[in-house]
Amino acid sequence: MTDSLPTLAVLGGTGAEGSGLAFRWAYAGYPVILGSRSAEKAQAGAAELNTLLGKELVRGMDNLSAAKEAQIVVLTVPYSAQKPTVSDVASALEGKILVDVTVPLVPPKVNRVQLPPEGSAVEAVQKMLGTGVKVVSAFQNVSAHHLKDLSHTVECDVLVTGDDITAREAVITLAKAVGLRGLHAGPLCNSVVAEALTSVLISINQRYNIPGSGIRITGLPEQD
Ligand SMILES: NC(=O)c1ccc[n+]([C@@H]2O[C@H](COP(=O)([O-])OP(=O)(O)OC[C@H]3O[C@@H](n4cnc5c(N)ncnc54)[C@H](OP(=O)(O)O)[C@@H]3O)[C@@H](O)[C@H]2O)c1
Repeated sequence: MTDSLPTLAVLGGTGAEGSGLAFRWAYAGYPVILGSRSAEKAQAGAAELNTLLGKELVRGMDNLSAAKEAQIVVLTVPYSAQKPTVSDVASALEGKILVDVTVPLVPPKVNRVQLPPEGSAVEAVQKMLGTGVKVVSAFQNVSAHHLKDLSHTVECDVLVTGDDITAREAVITLAKAVGLRGLHAGPLCNSVVAEALTSVLISINQRYNIPGSGIRITGLPEQD
C-alpha cells in the first residue's frame, strides 16, 4: 500500500507546522522526508518523529536533497524565508506539486492581516517557478498545536486553492490523510483568503485564550 503513495518532502519540517503535518502523513503510511537548511537538524527532527511513531518511517535531509527525492514538496517555513527557500530548491521542483503552507505574517503584529503587495504570498511563488510547477496553497488555517497528538481530532477544514484541479485533488487527499476535510476553494489567487484568515484565527486564539481555533465550511453534503 505504502509503495503506491507519493514520497513527501516537508521543507522546514523541523518546525512546528511542518513536523506536525509530517508526523500525521507518516502515520498514514506516506514515505516522508523532513527538509532543513541543515541535514543534521533534519535527521534529528526525523528521529524525534520516529520515536513518537514507534517506527523508522521518516528520514531527514537538507531541503534540496529532500525536494529532489520527493514527488510532492510541502513548504512550511516562515514568510521571510519563503522565497529564499523556494529559490534554493527550484531546480528540483519541475513537474512536481509544491504545496505552500506559508502565511504572510509580519511580526510582531501577527494578529493583523498584512498581505503582500503581490496579493497572496503563494502567487509570488508560482510566478517565480513558472507553470512547470503546480503550486497549491493549503493548511494555512490548521494550527500546529495538536497535530502530534493522535488522540486529538483537529477541527478545521482546509481551503485548497490552485490553478490545476488535479493537483488540488492530490492535496485534498493529503488533507484527508491528516484527518482533515480538504475543499476545492478555487484558483490560486483565492489563497489570499486562507492566508488572511490565519491572523483572524490568531486574534481569536489570543482573545479566548485557546491554542488553536479553526474553520468549518457549512452546507456541504456529509461525504464531501
Ligand atoms: N505554527 C502554526 O500553528 C502554523 C499554522 C498554520 C500555518 N503556519 C505557517 O506555516 C509556516 C511554518 O510555520 P512554523 O510555525 O512551523 O514556523 P517555524 O517553526 O518558525 O519555522 C519552520 C522552519 O523553517 C525554517 N526556517 C526558519 N527560519 C528560516 C530562514 N530564515 N530561512 C530558511 N528557513 C528557515 C526552520 O527550519 P531549519 O532551521 O531546519 O531550516 C524552521 O524549523 C509559516 O509560514 C506559518 O505562518 C503555521
